[in-house]
Amino acid sequence: MSKKSILFFLLFSIVSFSYCINAFGPYLQCPTRTSIRVLWKTDLPTESIIALGKEPNKWDSIYTFSSKKMYHKVEFVGLEPNTKYYYAQMENGKVLPNKQGEGYFTTLPLEAKPIPFRVWCLGDFGKATEQQRAVRLSFEAYNKDNPTNFWIWLGDNAYNTGKEIEYQEKVFSSFYGYDSIMKFLPFMPCPGNHDYGSVSRWGGPKKHKGPYFKLFDVYQKGEAGGVASGTELYYSYNYGNAHFISLNSEVWAYNIFGNTAMKDWLINDLKNNHQLFTIVYFHRPPYSKGSHDSDTFWEIFTKAMRKRFVPILEEYGVDLVLCGHTHVYERSFLIKGHYGHSNTFDAKKHIISSSFGNTSKGDLPYVKFANGKNANKGTIYLNCGVGGRPYDTPRFGHPIMAVEAAGSTSLGSVILDFNGEKLVTKYLKGDGSIGDEFTIIKYTKTGQQKKKKVANL
Ligand SMILES: [Fe+2]
Repeated sequence: MSKKSILFFLLFSIVSFSYCINAFGPYLQCPTRTSIRVLWKTDLPTESIIALGKEPNKWDSIYTFSSKKMYHKVEFVGLEPNTKYYYAQMENGKVLPNKQGEGYFTTLPLEAKPIPFRVWCLGDFGKATEQQRAVRLSFEAYNKDNPTNFWIWLGDNAYNTGKEIEYQEKVFSSFYGYDSIMKFLPFMPCPGNHDYGSVSRWGGPKKHKGPYFKLFDVYQKGEAGGVASGTELYYSYNYGNAHFISLNSEVWAYNIFGNTAMKDWLINDLKNNHQLFTIVYFHRPPYSKGSHDSDTFWEIFTKAMRKRFVPILEEYGVDLVLCGHTHVYERSFLIKGHYGHSNTFDAKKHIISSSFGNTSKGDLPYVKFANGKNANKGTIYLNCGVGGRPYDTPRFGHPIMAVEAAGSTSLGSVILDFNGEKLVTKYLKGDGSIGDEFTIIKYTKTGQQKKKKVANL
């Protein structure tokens, strides 16, 4: 082979390799009772061809969109509720050899009835570290026998500045990332400050453009319940007997200045919410002493979430607030009414229940009531920003916290198991152990208050 041929071959190989590593997906967005969106990126513009069926590798329909593109999005509609479907990408009339039998999803249940379901929550993860991989492997091992229904992202999804190449290499990839999970587990994200590294924080919703908003679809129209937000910046949805709200803690207008759009929508959404459980998530924690101290003066977004939004969440009885950003694990008692610095916290005044809530160790559960004079009293705040790498120097000590973990062994994620009136939350550590567990019982009938022994009520 001549030198020229060798050079040409090398160049061709490099270009081909570059194209190959630009492909990612498929991944699943916005599942409803009758629809779901499948997205993927190809290395070159191609047609979007995808097969769908109720049994693996037995296809009832083949969807073909002939316009050639690299960013593909197919929405399956007219599906049956609470039904498992299989799907696969195709080329030239055949399922790609490496795509057979790998993609599936289950549509949402028909009614908001108390079916058991599981949610995986992960924060601050896209770092391409061995620790990130360990957290994913611990989840895959834990989830083997009890399938998870969907996946919440707590922000800082791709480091360091939320570029598409960072999502590709650190989130969509197979070794460090979640390629093995994304094919069957829909995710509902919120953005963090690192995702906003490639998105302007200024201006109205239409100006918020960048990889996070380009790559991910969220419920803007109330497709799965909740009040339509009309924007990708914040949104809500129902699953089973729970309502989920994804807020945006990164916007100057909503959080620092006087734009009340997100606040007004939130109040309207909560007023119209009749689900038994309500879970809210956003990136910056209102209370923390971990790698970010919520008392320091420069934590203005954190303070804004605590002052402007937490009182609303508590007024409407939100049960659990999940955040990332702080690279530790922190989880509060059941509290209400504390909106200042940590030194203003008064346990007698602000703690609704001082149980640790771990019924597997004999603690009393956190008890709340959906009705009556004590309806919806108290909220638990949980920070888990250790999906990719923990903070090296352990810091503890926020007085609202019942359980804290920091330092090299704090790596982990959070599992939510809903079952009727019971919600069990577990801190699944990167080594596979359970670092914290607590139960919230939410009674729908006030009469049960007299029959049950409850914690500090
Ligand atoms: Fe962050």
